[in-house]
Amino acid sequence: MIKYLGSKRRLVPVLARICEEAHADTALDLFTGTTRVAQAFKQRGAVVTAVDTARYSEVFAQTYVATDATAVDKDDLIDALAHLESLPGEPGYFTETFCDRSRFFQPFNGARVDAIREALARDYADSPLFPILLTSLIEAADRVDSTTGVQMAYVKQWAARSFNRLELRFPQLLVGGGCAVRGDALELAGTVGEFDLAYLDPPYNQHRYFTNYHVWETLVAWDAPPHYGVACKRADAREPATKTAFNARRGMPEALRAVVRDVRARVLVLSYNDESWVELDELRDICAVRGAVEVLGFDSKRYVGAQIGIHNPLGERVGTVSHVRNHEYVLIVGERNEVRRLAAAAREEVPHG
Ligand SMILES: C[S@@+](CC[C@H](N)C(=O)[O-])C[C@H]1O[C@@H](n2cnc3c(N)ncnc32)[C@H](O)[C@@H]1O
Repeated sequence: MIKYLGSKRRLVPVLARICEEAHADTALDLFTGTTRVAQAFKQRGAVVTAVDTARYSEVFAQTYVATDATAVDKDDLIDALAHLESLPGEPGYFTETFCDRSRFFQPFNGARVDAIREALARDYADSPLFPILLTSLIEAADRVDSTTGVQMAYVKQWAARSFNRLELRFPQLLVGGGCAVRGDALELAGTVGEFDLAYLDPPYNQHRYFTNYHVWETLVAWDAPPHYGVACKRADAREPATKTAFNARRGMPEALRAVVRDVRARVLVLSYNDESWVELDELRDICAVRGAVEVLGFDSKRYVGAQIGIHNPLGERVGTVSHVRNHEYVLIVGERNEVRRLAAAAREEVPHG
């Protein structure tokens, strides 16, 4: 899985336990990101719908959520990966933009990304293997990048991992079906379906995923967009259509209120941390319209960028961060007795340290 701001790696056992205890046959992951949580729900037997605005999230969801491992021809997949892996590097837009003009990847790896992505467009566009192969490519590129975990900047000296040769791996597919949807949670919350469990993990502050992961957007869109700035961000990052209400201080609480209100689910689970623009009490009020609210809290390490320090767009370290830990919360909302039962079970999984 890629490095991702706000990824819920440490929360997964808690969320999976809630899914299990709720006996959820159907689940919604409305801001799915890496699909880490959706995958955990799928592994607990739920049919999951995974939603996000990001193009790369849709590809991950097609791979890990919507694809049934039993329906994939493993030999075909192995052959395709071996073929792509064997292609010689062929520098193109990716190399020029993300290795020469900026320094997100070493040029020898960039040229291989160009060659593999071109082959995917040419030879696999209509194949059911397409999202799986593209997921493999994004994850391979992520393992050899030269960033602190976001793509607003790259580090000044090449990161040690960037010297490694990009290597395509076989994505760990899961058994069962599911659904991948690309779209805005605000529009989809009330219409995407009815679920036993819905999980909400929206952005809570100014950090935009569209710009933080613009390289993955471009690798999926493969549209060679005009770009700007030292980080070579997509020019359309400036357009309102690529912005979300969840990154606007004024609009975010209202957007959250609307999504919480509109989602059709028996149990709603929401995660939140103390770097958010809304306070925990306000969040509790927002959720209370749906029923009883239980709150689980724990201490958590901040994302990798915060661990490493603050860098300017040239990759120079310009400061240290004030804290490397934050508080995470999980709110469980629904019928009182059920919510109490789910919270008691989930507390057994709360990570410490
Ligand atoms: C905190 S991250 C989710 C991380 C995810 N739970 C994980 O573990 O990988 C928030 C996600 O919301 C997505 N997002 C932002 N605005 C959105 C919107 N209006 N509708 C749907 N998804 C949105 C972002 O692309 C990002 O992937």
